[in-house]
Formats: sequence, C-alpha cells, structure tokens
Amino acid sequence: MKIAILGTGAGARQHAARLSALGHQVIVGTRSPDATLARTEPDMMGTEPFAAFHAVHPELTLVTFAEAADAGELIINGIDGTNAVAALTALPAASLAGKVLIDYAVPYIYQQPVDPQHSWPTPWGEMPRLDPVDTDSLAEQIQRALPDTMVVKTFVTQEQETVVNPGEFGGGDHTMFLAGDHEDAKTAAREILTAYGWNDIADLGALAAARGLEMYAHFHTALGLALGSRFGVKIVR
Ligand SMILES: NC(=O)c1ccc[n+]([C@@H]2O[C@H](COP(=O)([O-])OP(=O)(O)OC[C@H]3O[C@@H](n4cnc5c(N)ncnc54)[C@H](OP(=O)(O)O)[C@@H]3O)[C@@H](O)[C@H]2O)c1
Repeated sequence: MKIAILGTGAGARQHAARLSALGHQVIVGTRSPDATLARTEPDMMGTEPFAAFHAVHPELTLVTFAEAADAGELIINGIDGTNAVAALTALPAASLAGKVLIDYAVPYIYQQPVDPQHSWPTPWGEMPRLDPVDTDSLAEQIQRALPDTMVVKTFVTQEQETVVNPGEFGGGDHTMFLAGDHEDAKTAAREILTAYGWNDIADLGALAAARGLEMYAHFHTALGLALGSRFGVKIVR
C-alpha cells in the first residue's frame, strides 16, 4: 500500500522505516524537503537531523506535505500537535478526502511561562500543557476540520519505537488502544498494528475517547520518568 507519513520527527521515522520494511511504499511529507534535508542540528529532543536518518533509509521518498497526502492511500499524521490542524487544513481537500488518517499527535503546548506553584520539571524542560483537553481532543478537531476523512486515534500511548516493535516488552503481551467514528479507519489501523506485532488492541469506541488517549500522555510521562526506561502497559480484564 502507498502510505503517506506527514512528519519527519522521531516518531514519524519509526513508522516510515518499519512500514517500508513491511513492504509498503512510504512517502514522507515535510514542509520543505530542501530545508528538512539541509538541517544539521538535532531537534529539542536530541533527535538527529533528518538527513542522517534518510542516508540510512534512501528508499523513503521525501516530498511536501501536499505531495505526500496526494500520493498516499492511507495517511499517518506525525505533524506536531500544535500545528497539525492548520497544516492539514492547508492541504488540498481532495488529497485527504475519502482516506483513512491515523493520528498519533499530542496537543502539547511547549515553553509555557513557569508558574512556580505548579511547576513540573522534566529532563527536557517544563512539562508542556495540553490544549485542547478535557472537553475536546486534537483528533476530534482534525475530524471536524476534515469531515470527508476517516480519522482514527491510535499509537499515541507509547513511544513510537515501541509502537512499531511491541515485542521489545513482555514478548509483545501488552495493550494498544484505538478510537474513532469510522469502522473502516479502525480496521485499517488494526491491520497496521497487527503487522507491527500487536495482539491486544483495545477499541475504546467513538473518537471522543481520544481525549483520554491524549490526556494519558501526562501519566505516560510520569511513569517513564519514575521507571527511567520505556515500558509497555497491559490491561488485565
Ligand atoms: N515520538 C514519539 O514517540 C511520540 C509518541 C507519542 C506521541 N507523539 C506525538 O506525535 C506528534 C509527532 O511526533 P514526532 O516525534 O513524530 O514529531 P515532532 O518532532 O513532534 O513533529 C515534527 C513534525 O511537525 C512538523 N511541524 C513543526 N512545526 C510545524 C508548523 N509550524 N507547521 C507545519 N508542520 C510543522 C515538522 O515539519 P517539518 O518536517 O517541516 O520539520 C515535522 O514534520 C507530536 O505531537 C508528539 O507529541 C510522539
């Protein structure tokens, strides 16, 4: 299948490399291919420049967001949460209409002024806050903005290294979640998750459940900082 990954960040790279290894034709989208390939500094999380990754994965095509969306039969949104709605709605509507869009972004707002009474320091700076939160989610915003696209929220509760390789913990015996209003989108997401190696996929129902998946990011961070390592989460029924 032709899969467009909109994004060049650390998570997007995991999906691009794994989906390509699984035999899919992967098209990676960015704002400007030239600018992305010209970067020489790591990003704020220490992720190496895209050119270094691309040198190891020359099979991946790097084009603009619009070209990638147009070419993809299925879309994965790896645009950072703050900018995702604006970037996606700037694309020609026909490039996304009728397609499944898997969204794993977190609507983090970074670099907030720190209120000392509510500080949550992390190794990468003050913990970002979520917006939207509680009564809305990024996934629902994307779905409302793109009514002809079938949005499904998944992948978001793990580091993407773990998403594409669940077997690294407990032999893969842990749980991945998805939510969405379109059964076809959930089926497509489930097929990718199964190919990645997920056996336990919990369907949380309508896309409104994406609020919980996005808000889980705070708990995931707290767990990660406490454990000092990546981990899997298993739901015991
Ligand atoms: N990495 C993970 O393991 C992980 C896990 C769970 C959730 N998430 C969430 O998933 C999302 C993507 O994560 P990621 O690690 O793959 O990438 P990321 O580093 O968070 O985002 C990078 C992407 O966002 C695009 N971008 C940045 N500013 C933009 C703007 N003003 N307009 C349009 N696009 C813009 C960049 O475009 P260019 O390519 O042009 O630079 C790049 O493609 C984030 O919300 C993140 O919090 C990540």
